[in-house]
Amino acid sequence: MASAVKPIFIFLVYISFHLSLVASKSKDPTPAAWPLQFHSILFMNNSGTLQKVDLWYDWPNGRNFNIIQNQLGKLVYDLEWDNGTSYIYSLDSNKECRVLHFPVGILRPNWLDGANYLGQQEEDGFLCNVWEKVDFILYYEDVITKRPVYWAFYTGYTAHVMTFEVGAVLGDSHWQAPAYCFEEAEGKRKPVIESVGWSGQQWKLLKGIPSASMTL
Ligand SMILES: *[C@@H]1O[C@H](CO)[C@@H](O)[C@H](O)[C@H]1NC(C)=O
Ligand SMILES: *[C@@H]1O[C@H](CO)[C@@H](O)[C@H](O)[C@H]1NC(C)=O
Repeated sequence: MASAVKPIFIFLVYISFHLSLVASKSKDPTPAAWPLQFHSILFMNNSGTLQKVDLWYDWPNGRNFNIIQNQLGKLVYDLEWDNGTSYIYSLDSNKECRVLHFPVGILRPNWLDGANYLGQQEEDGFLCNVWEKVDFILYYEDVITKRPVYWAFYTGYTAHVMTFEVGAVLGDSHWQAPAYCFEEAEGKRKPVIESVGWSGQQWKLLKGIPSASMTL
């Protein structure tokens, strides 16, 4: 009698062990969706090249702005529309502009869905939950406030989040690319800006778009 019960008992233990594994897996924290509109100041490090980026994320209006101050260098505007068009320009006397067309729009608020939870780790002095999207990004979110603290692309491009103003919106008049972005080249080659904002670059990587399609 006892010998017949034993295998069943072991089987039940085995099953419940697996169920608890599944249950604990589903209890993993998930990253907070991005607020529909926010302003953030980011300190970026692109393999040793430092930038301060003003990020204006504006999902309801289908637009995303990276205003990129290169360290002791150029101020570059990277204005991205959800229809896939990006304008990358300076506002100085050089009148440089590049127009890029991406087959994808701006990042969705839920773009981190499906990321793998890696556990907790301290970053920049904040205790964070950490997720990865394979071959794309490591993303660190403050355990308590749920605000992003840091992210690192697999290319070596990292972002430290300095401010995170939920609900901040940049006025419409700032979203107008300058007239020279809309002029025909008229035979003479327009100056070209090489720097592209982090989200455009990373989308390109994520979607496997070759860099050749980035050149004008
Ligand atoms: C920027 O990143 C490089 C590695 O890519 C690192 O050596 C350097 O210390 C970083 N600079 C800053 C200011 O964090
Ligand atoms: C996308 O929208 C922007 C802003 O309205 C516009 O300038 C651009 O021409 C549009 N691109 C396409 C491909 O429709």
